[in-house]
Amino acid sequence: MIQLPKHIAIIMDGNGRWAKKRGLSRTQGHRKGLEALRNTVENAAELGVEFLTVFGFSTENWKRSTDEVSDLMGLLRFYLKNELQTLHKKGAKLRVIGERDRLAPDIVKLIEGAEALTATNSRINVTIALSYGARSEIVSASQKLAQRVANGEIQPGDINEQLFEDCLMTSDLPPLDLLIRTSGELRISNFLLWQIAYSELVFTDTLWPDFDKACLEQALADYSNRQRRFGAEDVTGAAE
Ligand code: IPE
Ligand code: IPE
Ligand code: MG
Repeated sequence: MIQLPKHIAIIMDGNGRWAKKRGLSRTQGHRKGLEALRNTVENAAELGVEFLTVFGFSTENWKRSTDEVSDLMGLLRFYLKNELQTLHKKGAKLRVIGERDRLAPDIVKLIEGAEALTATNSRINVTIALSYGARSEIVSASQKLAQRVANGEIQPGDINEQLFEDCLMTSDLPPLDLLIRTSGELRISNFLLWQIAYSELVFTDTLWPDFDKACLEQALADYSNRQRRFGAEDVTGAAE
């Protein structure tokens, strides 16, 4: 039986190396990466994935050169202005998570507009992580809970996993079934640390700009062959 993940996340890595291999600028790599994102949204929707969460820019990516950061922010503006109607027509509901106050005010406005326009779409839920870092998300959730304790709304002992999850930026998303990272790097780079506790992980050497429908299908096929036990005993007998 084919099991399809309801929620997949992707660390879209390798734009720079893709460009370097071709003697192109990093910007050209990021542009091609944007095309791969556009195609992946459509491919994921066609294949029946309901929730797609992608890592677009990490809190650590602010450490890159001002030229690279402004290139990436320029592309983000382009995406939010020019892709919006296409995404909307495709029935995608767009949401952005991350430290929004670190983004330029005009980008924040574009994000708010995009979220409002697509709010009632339901074909596929697309969450883009921008200026996102999982440690920062966890610290901020802790602050929210500490504030509630200080206000006398809850006791420290009331804090449990559910309450904590409710304070994360992904609180309205279902559990993460599958995390894919492209470009051959075998690390998480501060993405969704809490949420991946029981996600299946797929690492591929494909550089993000080359990630096409066949690559997504391969990742879904890998997922389909996994046995998810969540710590319980193997009931299929496969391990005997
Ligand atoms: C991923 O590609 C895009 C971002 C992190 C914004 P990279 O820019 O990290 O590309 P590589 O890893 O240098 O090849
Ligand atoms: C992770 O990629 C962040 C995004 C894909 C947006 P990086 O290229 O920034 O990660 P490291 O530096 O290889 O860990
Ligand atoms: Mg990288």
